[in-house]
Amino acid sequence: MPDRYDLPAGFRWGVATAAYQIEGAVDEDGRGPSVWDTFTARSGAIRDGHTGAVACDHYHRHPEDIALMHGLGLDGYRFSIAWPRIQPTGAGPVNAAGLAFYDRLVDDLLAVGITPLPTLFHWDLPQALEDAGGWLNRDTAYRFAEYAAIVADRLGDRVPAWITLNEPFVHTVYGYAMGIHAPGRTLMFEALPAAHHQLLGHGLAAAALHERGLEVMLSNNLTPVEPATPSPADAAAAAAYDTLHNRLFTDPVLLGRYPDLAALGVPDDIFGAVRPGDLDLIHTPGLDGLGVNYYNPTRVAAPTDPGLPFDLLDIPDVPHTAFGWPVVPDGLRRLLTGLRIRYGTALPPITMTENGCSTTEDLDDTFRIDYLSAHLDALATTVAEGVDVRGYYTWSLIDNFEWAEGLFSQRFGLVHVDFATQRRTPKASYAWYRDLIAVHRARCAKEGSVTSP
Ligand code: FCB
Repeated sequence: MPDRYDLPAGFRWGVATAAYQIEGAVDEDGRGPSVWDTFTARSGAIRDGHTGAVACDHYHRHPEDIALMHGLGLDGYRFSIAWPRIQPTGAGPVNAAGLAFYDRLVDDLLAVGITPLPTLFHWDLPQALEDAGGWLNRDTAYRFAEYAAIVADRLGDRVPAWITLNEPFVHTVYGYAMGIHAPGRTLMFEALPAAHHQLLGHGLAAAALHERGLEVMLSNNLTPVEPATPSPADAAAAAAYDTLHNRLFTDPVLLGRYPDLAALGVPDDIFGAVRPGDLDLIHTPGLDGLGVNYYNPTRVAAPTDPGLPFDLLDIPDVPHTAFGWPVVPDGLRRLLTGLRIRYGTALPPITMTENGCSTTEDLDDTFRIDYLSAHLDALATTVAEGVDVRGYYTWSLIDNFEWAEGLFSQRFGLVHVDFATQRRTPKASYAWYRDLIAVHRARCAKEGSVTSP
């Protein structure tokens, strides 16, 4: 059985973060308000009333955080750019100080040999755009492409590859359907125009990035879906969930069409949102890489509540993270081999743009080390089976603001953060990841020198 040390030479090691989860400094240097500033101010929206107003204060402490990354020996750093720092109202003039922050960040990363991998949208929409309908408004897709072009014009000389959106599934379902995340809407399936407009925004931004000679990825949250039993009713429920979670956000980009949405009770034109030509705009730019964020599989049964076409069940008899997410490393292999079967030659190279776990451990985080080792071993098996995976960005470098769960309850970092003092302390997993990267690299170098003529 191949293990993590057998991942191919040139495999890229990284960590991932997102702007609202780490930066803080929400009122500084001309940043406009985002939907997350508004949502976190809502009473009861976030555990313990936390907000990302300070978070990890990364806006001021990024040199220390880059030093931590350098200590890991990373190839790449996935972070997100806060749109409201670049265009405080989501349109119109550029806020020079906001752009300058990312310009410095990019230079500081490159100075220590780390390639920046920015995500243009990790859920922090400028509030002014939300006031005009947010992603339910088609116009937001066009504003997004303009913002992408602005940032690419400034950083594209040093940043080769870009991620347009992070997890449009989670943003649509948690943010617009269920109201668990910003902007806190509870539209159920009528939220799906927000999915289409994000995909349209992706396509328009991808075209703008390609025009500038840059590579484009999209990071989807994907899950292998398992029916609870082989019964036709459970199988139909699993297929409906697979459509909603996976295919709705990947088929249009890779295949140029939506899956059949009938099982979700959603019309083909997604309540009038899909206009002639849209699927070409989404599909034609193509993807240079698919970003996959994997946390766990999903077990699905026929609905007991007639309002939904499926029930989501826990997966028994496996460990669970602090979040209660089941730990199933082989699910990653099933997911990626399943993508290859589903999309065939339409599947571009994959980069794991998130994978990790929250634990209740402090610094001796053996649960995390076990989680990461098992997932990377499963990844190595998948690669040995012929799936083209180019890199792995673990979530996350540092403990951070975990959306609805606030600051303290879900710690995903390789580095512990004391939110009262902002003191960073590497956990055991930090040393483990550093050593893994070093050993893998040394092995590849040795094998390279043995096999080269
Ligand atoms: C993903 C998000 C990321 C983080 C992890 C735990 O869905 O993209 O921001 O919250 O979950």
